[in-house]
Formats: sequence, structure tokens, C-alpha cells
Amino acid sequence: MEIITDIQDMQQRCLAARGEGKRLAFVPTMGYLHEGHLSLLRAARAAGDVVVLSIFVNPTQFGAGEDFDSYPRDLSRDAEMARAVGTDWLFAPRASAMYPAGFSTWVEVEGLTGNLCGASRPGHFRGVTTVVCKLFNIVQPHVAFFGQKDFQQLAVIRRMSADLNLPVEVRGLPIVREADGLAMSSRNVKLTPDQRRQALALFDGIRLAAAQVKAGERDSRRVLAAVRERIQQEPEARIDYIQVCHDETLSDLETIGPHAVLLLAVRVGATRLIDNHHLGEEIPEP
Ligand code: PAJ
Repeated sequence: MEIITDIQDMQQRCLAARGEGKRLAFVPTMGYLHEGHLSLLRAARAAGDVVVLSIFVNPTQFGAGEDFDSYPRDLSRDAEMARAVGTDWLFAPRASAMYPAGFSTWVEVEGLTGNLCGASRPGHFRGVTTVVCKLFNIVQPHVAFFGQKDFQQLAVIRRMSADLNLPVEVRGLPIVREADGLAMSSRNVKLTPDQRRQALALFDGIRLAAAQVKAGERDSRRVLAAVRERIQQEPEARIDYIQVCHDETLSDLETIGPHAVLLLAVRVGATRLIDNHHLGEEIPEP
């Protein structure tokens, strides 16, 4: 595996590989890799001739007062994990090269970004879509892999790719969870042992909701009330949002039908966690 930091070098290698008829499979990340990221890399390995992983903690998707500075970083640990699953090229550009002086072009998806994380983190998705569009232009992948853990992000990136005719197939893969059900996240390392225990309330809430729906409940308000009550039992949990939304439009649903997704964003102490579950599916197992 080679580590590439120079943007032009990365772009030229990718263009050359394409020219040789190779299929490029891409996994964009912010690093501090875990099994969720590795599941994307394994799928990329199976889908392409050349697997490219990017690690870039993108400053433009963090708001003022968010955790850009304290976001966990460990490139040598990540490189070892990436190599072990068959990554060919690890692209780790510098922020000053991605956003040089004078940078002034932004990619913004409207509509889908108005609700959920778009509402609670203004400007976040503008940063995400801008950097993913830039990364797609640098790597020029045939196929790119994203996790359903960031359900809204996946929907927004699909929308951007379709709207801008980006020649990239966007694939979404299931949420990878810890043995006890907590969705894997780079941010989980920031939880104290007690907060780590409290964080299970998200998955408990999901299971509670899935069980209610399985028993026939169709009223979103009643399901949301039960989830909210469970999460509020934890002393350090602060709810950002808990909503039931349509899986394509991401607008709120009053009645639970085949398109309903439960989405949660909860702060546990200073750490913001997100999770989701498609309510048409079985009660999730960790
Ligand atoms: P990051 O949080 O590092 O996540 C990189 C990819 O891994 C995303 O597609 C995310 O959905 C996926 N992922 C994270 N946790 C997962 C889990 N538990 N199971 C399955 N997939 C998981 O998302 C970003 O970085 C950034 O916003 C990025 C797209 C790289 C743009 O900066």
C-alpha cells in the first residue's frame, strides 16, 4: 500500500489506472478507522481492481464550536489497518492543499439537507458535498462506498451525484455495530466508560421502536415518545433530534409505512452520536 499526500500525484495515478482499463473503488473517510470503515474497504476490494481510501478530516463540514480540533487522528494506525484489508492507495491530503487561499466554490444540495443533521448542524452538508465532489474529481472512481450509518449523508451524496451527472456509482452498506449494539463511530473513543454505557440508550431506543412497529404500532408520535423516554433516562444524554422520516425525501412521517426510518442524534456528554433504523426491517441484532 502506498500513502499519497499530493493531490496532482493522486489524480494522475488514478487517471493512468483508468486508462489501463482498471476499475477504481473508492472509500472516503475522516480516518480513525474501525470495523464500519473496514466493511466498506472489503466491499471496495471485492468490487475493484484498485482500492483507494481517503483520510481527510474535512474542516469545512465542522461548525464553530464543533469537534474539529479534538476529532481523533492516528494515520500510522489507520495505514496498518487499511493495508491489512487490501487497500492499494491511501490518499491523505493536507487541508491547505484542499482549501488553498482563494478557494470559493461550494456544492450545496437543497431540500434533503433542510431536516435532521442539516437543521442541527447548519453548513455541515455543504462541507460534506463540497469535499466529496472534490475527492470524486481527484480519484475519479467507478464506484464509491458509503455507510448507512450516516443515512442522510448517503441520501445527499446520491442526490449530488445524480444532479451533477457524476460518473460514479454510489453504494450504501449496512451499519456495523459493536457486540452490544452501539453503532461504530470514530467518536466512540471519546466516551468515558460510564458514557459508553449510557450510549447504549440509542440502540435500546431503536429496538424498542422496532418492537412496537412489529406489534402493529403505526403512529410515529407514540413510537418517538417511547424512544425519547428511554434516552432521557440517561443522565448525560441530550437529544438533538429523534424523528421518523421518509427514506427518500427525508421529510417527517406521521404514519409509519414501508418507507419509514427512525433517525437519532444524541449528545452523550460532549460527544454527538447518530444512529438510525429502517422500521420496515426486522428488529436489529447487534
Ligand atoms: P467518516 O465518519 O470517517 O465515515 C466514513 C464512511 O464510513 C461513511 O460513509 C460512513 O457512513 C461510514 N461509516 C461510519 N461508521 C460506520 C458504521 N458503524 N457502519 C458502517 N459504515 C460506517 O462520513 C464521513 O467520514 C465524512 O463525512 C466524509 C464522507 C468522508 C466526508 O468528509
